[in-house]
Amino acid sequence: MPEITIISPTYNERENVAHLYQRIKDALPALEWELVFVDDDSPDGTADRVRELAAQDPRIRVVHRLHRRGLSGAVIEGALTSSAPYIAVIDADLQHDETLLSAMLEKLRSSPETDLVVASRYTQDGSTGDWDGTRERISRLAISLGQSVTRVELSDPMSGFFMIRRPVFMTVARDLANEGFKILLDILATSDRKLNVEELPYEFRTRQFGESKLDSLVALHYVRLLLDKTLGRILPVRFIMFAGVNFLGLFIHLLILWLAFEISNLSFTMSQVIATLTAMTSNYLLNNQFTYYDRRLRGTKLVVGLLTFYAICSVGVVANVGMANYLYNFDGIWWIAGLAGSLVGLVWNYAVTANVTWRN
Ligand code: GDD
Ligand code: MN
Repeated sequence: MPEITIISPTYNERENVAHLYQRIKDALPALEWELVFVDDDSPDGTADRVRELAAQDPRIRVVHRLHRRGLSGAVIEGALTSSAPYIAVIDADLQHDETLLSAMLEKLRSSPETDLVVASRYTQDGSTGDWDGTRERISRLAISLGQSVTRVELSDPMSGFFMIRRPVFMTVARDLANEGFKILLDILATSDRKLNVEELPYEFRTRQFGESKLDSLVALHYVRLLLDKTLGRILPVRFIMFAGVNFLGLFIHLLILWLAFEISNLSFTMSQVIATLTAMTSNYLLNNQFTYYDRRLRGTKLVVGLLTFYAICSVGVVANVGMANYLYNFDGIWWIAGLAGSLVGLVWNYAVTANVTWRN
């Protein structure tokens, strides 16, 4: 049985996989290893390329996933297909220094209390390769946000290059998010106990073939992950996002009201109606885009969804006013009544639209 399973998630890495294999072979001559590529049906035929390699070396395997995307999910599935006591994760694009693998393994073998070894981009001497200032700054920001949720002091909690003991991985596997890039951070934040982590520095290389898949959707997943690991312990992240959209809607409402009433001199009632409809519509579209990005409605369903959203939110207003009136008559404190009414409306809108408008 191999001592170490190396998982490499791939999406359009056809040109890279053979190089990675060759480099790993050179880096680990004396070890029992296996290399599992987890490919999300890349259009460039990465999976077929891996199958060609696997025909020459049985230590190579492809997990070919259909109709699914996601780096974290790919890593989790890859790890679950193997039985080796150590699991390593490395990008397929040759940006990670595979010669570090043997040192990482040596750390885990020699110190039983270490759960996890992370290869860390040495930031001092600019080892993030050819990154420009913006990417570097965004990365730093993401790192400091991430550090605040993990309790582990790591210089690079965003690293996609690490090695973990299987039993440690198994204890957290069920609670990891499938989406996004931040599997390491997720493992650290999910574990009930503070994990013992060692870091080894390396220099992040420049990508030679293919292109990066890090985009705004990945950034959004990251924000969700952070919310999930902090506030999510108390409230569902979807609710938090729904409430956030609602809050934004308040500003949109006031802006439109101002434009209609003050600038265009419409009547107040007319202005308020226009502002309400605009805010409801923008709330709907934003929720459809972000809160329910995974159940996004399109085409005619988008229109039907909007109508149900209007209807449900109208009932929400009734619930809101009813609750506020009741409380106001009860204790006479206007702001408690107003706040409680809004909260009841919000919870109603969230709960009902979740089951009607964006029913799974
Ligand atoms: N199976 C699968 N599915 N693999 C994916 C997917 C996906 O949806 N998206 C990306 N990958 C693979 C890529 O093919 C590559 O092997 C690896 O995941 C990393 O993706 P890149 O697109 O090269 O990421 P990057 O270089 O921009 O980002 C690096 O830095 C991040 C921190 O800033 C990576 O090392 C990340 O892991 C790291 O979090
Ligand atoms: Mn990369």
